[in-house]
Amino acid sequence: MKQYIIKGGTPLRGEVMIGGAKNAALGIIVAAIMANEPVTIENLPDVDDVNVLLDAIEGIGAIVERLDIHTVRINGALINDVNVDEDSIRKIRGSYYLVGALLGKYKKALVALPGGCQIGSRPIDQHIKGFEQLGAEVTIHHGRIDAKAEQLTGNHIYLDCPSVGATINIMMAACMAEGKTIIENPAKEPHIVDVANFLNSMGANIKGAGTDAIRIRGVDSLHGSEYSIIPDQIEAGTYMLAVAATGGDVYIKNVIPKHLEAITAKLIEIGAKVEEFDDCVHVVSDRRLSYANVKTMPYPGFPTDMQPQMTTLLALSEGTSIVTETIFETRLKYVGELRRMGANITVEGNAAFITGVEGFTGAAVSAPDLRAGAALVMAGLAAEGFTYVDQIQYIERGYENFEQKIRGLGGHMEKIDAEDERAVRKFKMKVS
Ligand code: UD1
Repeated sequence: MKQYIIKGGTPLRGEVMIGGAKNAALGIIVAAIMANEPVTIENLPDVDDVNVLLDAIEGIGAIVERLDIHTVRINGALINDVNVDEDSIRKIRGSYYLVGALLGKYKKALVALPGGCQIGSRPIDQHIKGFEQLGAEVTIHHGRIDAKAEQLTGNHIYLDCPSVGATINIMMAACMAEGKTIIENPAKEPHIVDVANFLNSMGANIKGAGTDAIRIRGVDSLHGSEYSIIPDQIEAGTYMLAVAATGGDVYIKNVIPKHLEAITAKLIEIGAKVEEFDDCVHVVSDRRLSYANVKTMPYPGFPTDMQPQMTTLLALSEGTSIVTETIFETRLKYVGELRRMGANITVEGNAAFITGVEGFTGAAVSAPDLRAGAALVMAGLAAEGFTYVDQIQYIERGYENFEQKIRGLGGHMEKIDAEDERAVRKFKMKVS
């Protein structure tokens, strides 16, 4: 079993390059199979969720060529199966996009129910409602979503909550439906806009992505395209907060500063300095930061995917902070692990009440999910002594070369075999 070993207490300094957005990539890879011509996708993050999805589309007949580590060419012309049900696909969330894409293109799909992080009940009723309103019949049996339609017809669809997954899924199916679809109360996250831009680059007709209503006029077919994925807002945000937690000074490059505004605003509020450039943010923290209240909200609010990292930072800041999680009901499960490192946090319902401590001490902790795992790494980087983070397969679903990037910033972090005592000794000697 692999784990991260971290020696904390070194301020991160230098510059780090952010990769392509994982959650945009998941939508875009699947949308690519809707064309019957080659589609080239650049700035693809090399993370596990992306690789699982590429294998899945290859499994149903798409041609997937890796041009380099961050570029892939996909051709969906020879897809011969609409049944996607490998074990691996059940572990990731983005697999649900296969329903929208296959239903749009072939009017049928049979896809294993999605997995993803255990952070709440994560229903998919809004996805199903959308497909049904486009004229599909959707049933769930034996752990699979079975969707089929004689014909898809555009409709006026109102989402009960602005779900990222449902918005992208319905958008994909609707772009090959007959006539006009309007999605009201859609999610507005940057990756919604990115997937819409990508579909439009293949000849779809989608207007208003990123606003309160998305208007889609169906087309008969989609064509080849070349597209570059936007930078990952959450990877960037994680580095921003890690810099702040370690009292560092880092240029975070290849970002869209506008997508980071909620995070930037909080950092400035608690006393860090953030400078924005065209495609870079510069974060400096040269003193102990102070308390704040944070509530997770759909974009442009504070992202739920940054909540564990923000809670970790506030646990090291002066004063009392309250973090309220409004999107996923069990997304504060990691707090027990942070307490092992000395954090003073109590959880009541969906709120974390945080009394800032002067510092953490390293401990052996376990990543309960992707973003909480990243938060524990951050805590380890700020802590005195050694931290061991296990269950890192969750973290590797979303962070490319995490340990290399941290080392590039002067932090001490390595991926080792948990049983390899020699590797532990070697690491300790190197950093002492
Ligand atoms: C996506 C992201 C995830 C992020 C989340 C919120 C991907 C692969 N994952 O997850 O990283 O944390 O957005 O920004 O892009 N809901 C329903 N019914 C539905 C769908 C959602 O009630 O049919 C609720 C959920 O329980 C949740 C809220 O809507 O409370 C938001 O969920 P959603 O935006 O759909 O999250 P995901 O697409 O699963």
